[in-house]
Amino acid sequence: MGIFRGWRLLFLSLPLLVFVPLLFSVSELHRKPNLEQDLSKNHAKKFDHLVLGPAAGQGLPNRLQCQGLKALNKTHSLPSSRMLSSSDNISFVTVFAVYNSSQIACRDDKLCNTVIVGNASYNKVERSMAILDTFINFIQVSVPKSNVVILSDPASELPIHRNNVHLLHIHGDYSREKLMLQRIKSYIAFLETRYEEYIQRKNHLDNYIFTDSDVAVVDDLGDVFKKYPDFHLALTFRNNKDQPLNSGFIAVRGTPDGILKAKIFLQQVLEVYNSKYMKASRMLGDQLALAWVVKSHPSFDVKRFTRPEAFLDEIHGASVLFLPCAVYNWTPPEGAGQFHGMPLDVKVVHFKGSRKRLMLESWNFYTSYAASDYSDMLCLILRSGRTKYDF
Ligand SMILES: *[C@@H]1O[C@H](CO)[C@@H](O)[C@H](O)[C@H]1NC(C)=O
Ligand SMILES: *[C@@H]1O[C@H](CO)[C@@H](O)[C@H](O)[C@H]1NC(C)=O
Ligand SMILES: *[C@@H]1O[C@H](CO)[C@@H](O)[C@H](O)[C@H]1NC(C)=O
Ligand SMILES: *[C@@H]1O[C@H](CO)[C@@H](O)[C@H](O)[C@H]1NC(C)=O
Repeated sequence: MGIFRGWRLLFLSLPLLVFVPLLFSVSELHRKPNLEQDLSKNHAKKFDHLVLGPAAGQGLPNRLQCQGLKALNKTHSLPSSRMLSSSDNISFVTVFAVYNSSQIACRDDKLCNTVIVGNASYNKVERSMAILDTFINFIQVSVPKSNVVILSDPASELPIHRNNVHLLHIHGDYSREKLMLQRIKSYIAFLETRYEEYIQRKNHLDNYIFTDSDVAVVDDLGDVFKKYPDFHLALTFRNNKDQPLNSGFIAVRGTPDGILKAKIFLQQVLEVYNSKYMKASRMLGDQLALAWVVKSHPSFDVKRFTRPEAFLDEIHGASVLFLPCAVYNWTPPEGAGQFHGMPLDVKVVHFKGSRKRLMLESWNFYTSYAASDYSDMLCLILRSGRTKYDF
């Protein structure tokens, strides 16, 4: 049948373990996974090849059902087989910083921490470029008429030359320590420029979706703007008391009002970030500030975060749509968190932390399989999403 064209599978059942990992070699034969080594390593080991666990959520309604790596629900038909109109006029916007490779300490080739995915080997800089590339690949398949805008430091020369991908330089401090802070500033500057161009020259406005670059968009997101016609900006939420909002996905409606309200909202977030959360600036400051701005609105009911259903609320003058992370920013829970599987209508998968290898492996899987949709790849992600990888 040629189902796994160009793929070699090696399944090893380990009946002695409660959590039964399956080793899945996607690369060359001479990189055969070493069973004994994998068994002896402790749980903190970061894997350099795909490792599959059980598929969570089997038997639950509205969760993806998998048989091995075969999806029993084919829910993610690709745009070639349906109308394209709803994906018109979306721009995905991401902030990306490249770090000068000559500044990465690397005395000995063997210590350079090169990783191999499929046939390609990547050093640290190449790794983040590969993630950005894969981010674009997914978007161009899932939302073919959209644009991608990369906001970056004028000092960095990004070697990205692809159709419908635009590089926009915005001055700022893109150092690792300040990146989350800079990201909000860059979003604000971007929206400001769009707004001014519209006022002065009646430039055309797109709907904008600001995302992290370690996400795979696996469905058309134009539907959000159609299904919920009244929001200015949209955020993703989860049932997490301390960090109910994730900053990895922010949608902004491409109307003058939407752009302006979203800009003012983000300026409030920036102010709170600066005044309250500067100590957390490296990682979580923006999410804490986002949550603070939302929760500080007097009539906001935080109980709404406990149910994974979209809702609309007015926050400090902006109409904000809250979308469940389960669908628009899906990531398997870390560590021992409860895991109920993958919703059938998942639209965005977020490869947080050390899952980034899985993002590249998933794209390779999807293209090698010559699949007509993403469903089987989603089974791969579902089964491998809790593995810690070497990225
Ligand atoms: C998904 O597939 C399973 C197994 O074939 C089936 O029982 C279930 O009804 C399907 N779910 C939906 C929503 O189609
Ligand atoms: C979509 O973009 C085109 C230009 O690329 C513009 O002419 C059209 O009006 C836009 N549509 C909407 C709904 O904004
Ligand atoms: C990278 O860093 C090296 C050494 O610090 C420097 O000579 C070089 O100009 C830098 N390149 C860029 C593009 O910043
Ligand atoms: C790896 O390289 C071989 C030979 O060049 C090619 O046949 C194969 O398709 C490649 N595999 C991937 C995943 O790119």
